[in-house]
Parts: sequence; C-alpha cells; structure tokens
Amino acid sequence: MAFVVTENCIKCKFTDCVDVCPVDCFHEGPNFLVIDPDECIDCTLCEPECPANAIFAEDELPEGQEIFISLNSELAKLWPVITEVKQPLPDADEWNGKPGKIDQLEK
Ligand code: SF4
Ligand code: F3S
Repeated sequence: MAFVVTENCIKCKFTDCVDVCPVDCFHEGPNFLVIDPDECIDCTLCEPECPANAIFAEDELPEGQEIFISLNSELAKLWPVITEVKQPLPDADEWNGKPGKIDQLEK
C-alpha cells in the first residue's frame, strides 16, 4: 500500500507535506505533487499536514479519486523530488475545495 495525493492538491500545492516525509517520496509537477508508491513506507505523517486534506491512504480514497493511484505512480517517474517547503501557488486558498480540478492538472 501507499499514500496518494488526490485532486484537491491541484492548483494549491501547499507543500507542508514534503517537510515531514522521512523517505523523500514527494515529486513536484507544475501545479500538483505526487507520492512515489515504490518509496512510501506508509508512515502516515504527511496525511494530517496537508491544509487541503488531499492525502489519503490508498485503501481509504474518497469515491471518485481512484484515478489518482495510477497518476501518482506514473507522474512520480517523470517529476523531480521535492524535499523543501515552498510558497503555495498564488491562488491556493481560492482553489482549495473546488470540485473538478482534475481538468486543471498540468503534466
Ligand atoms: Fe512520506 Fe510517510 Fe507520507 Fe508515505 S505516508 S508519503 S512515507 S510521509
Ligand atoms: Fe498538495 Fe497538500 Fe502537499 S496541497 S503539496 S498534498 S500539503
């Protein structure tokens, strides 16, 4: 199993999650982060850190978020590792909680 970053990270990218991961398994794209499932050790530390509540255990994903299992796996192979917190995206607070953000995902 692994933890999975889901839709509500898109266009927010608060990055609090990366600060606590002991194995540096977050990877950064233009407007979204993913977790490398091959590196995640299921420590659970990142889940409560996300202000957008975007991180879930793979077996506790909210309905409709299953696509993010494969997206995390695929994009982690393409995007660089991120280990340091940075400023959220400029309109993060406005986008936090908006539905249908998957259409905004930049790869
Ligand atoms: Fe990293 Fe732990 Fe979160 Fe997995 S569960 S991504 S190991 S902080
Ligand atoms: Fe995204 Fe939440 Fe991390 S918004 S960057 S998963 S803290």
